[in-house]
Amino acid sequence: MRQKIVAGNWKCNTTLQEGIELAKAVDAIVAKEGAKDVVVVLGTPFTHITKVVETVDSKRIGVAAQNCAAEAKGAFTGEVSADMVKSTGASYVILGHSERREYYGETSEILNKKVALALANGLTPIFCCGEALNIREAGTHNEYVTKQLAETIFNLSSEDFKKIVIAYEPIWAIGTGVTASSEQAQDMHANIRAAITAKFGVEIAEGTSILYGGSCNAKNAKELFANKDVDGGLIGGASLKAEDFIHIINGF
Ligand code: 13P
Repeated sequence: MRQKIVAGNWKCNTTLQEGIELAKAVDAIVAKEGAKDVVVVLGTPFTHITKVVETVDSKRIGVAAQNCAAEAKGAFTGEVSADMVKSTGASYVILGHSERREYYGETSEILNKKVALALANGLTPIFCCGEALNIREAGTHNEYVTKQLAETIFNLSSEDFKKIVIAYEPIWAIGTGVTASSEQAQDMHANIRAAITAKFGVEIAEGTSILYGGSCNAKNAKELFANKDVDGGLIGGASLKAEDFIHIINGF
């Protein structure tokens, strides 16, 4: 069976000290209450990864970077390579987030390089896709998201594709308080799974975890996660409060 995953994306929030406190709080509650069969991941700023890895019990909680460089190493001031991320103890990397696509010009071509480097260094990519409001309103969201995947992770071999986690994040739902309805989320997740089936076959499609992201919170997580093709969430704002994040984990 595919894994249920709840991953926090802290984005550009928390000082190192605040991040350690947050990680401690999440770890303590997960230790006490358990996370059932849910894989819990904390996506922290680069500067926090090593400390957060030390802070949490790796049997309970994985740590993700929010990006990695498109080059393996060299004269790229300010970049952090997949190899460096791996060496911190992180096991995941969020790639293709709409904020990076939009604000930092990350194209499919760049993302293909990042995914290849992440996989080559043993990191699990949490690969994001999702449409803007105008595309949703035009009714072409299914084709749009399928194209995003066709240009990127569908170019991988079956063996590599099996290592990918997908996160569907409609841009109009990110940080807006407007979440996709349960039906909208299920429809898109089923569309993504059908596209994976067409490309890689039913076994791989059934084994791929597809997370939902976009204003997912303690109140709506349960309803979203009840859908048969929604395998968890990628959580922004609500992952910054340990109690809310735990409620979401308990949404399964
Ligand atoms: P919010 O949960 O704050 O809407 O952010 C979602 C997101 O972008 C996670 O990657």
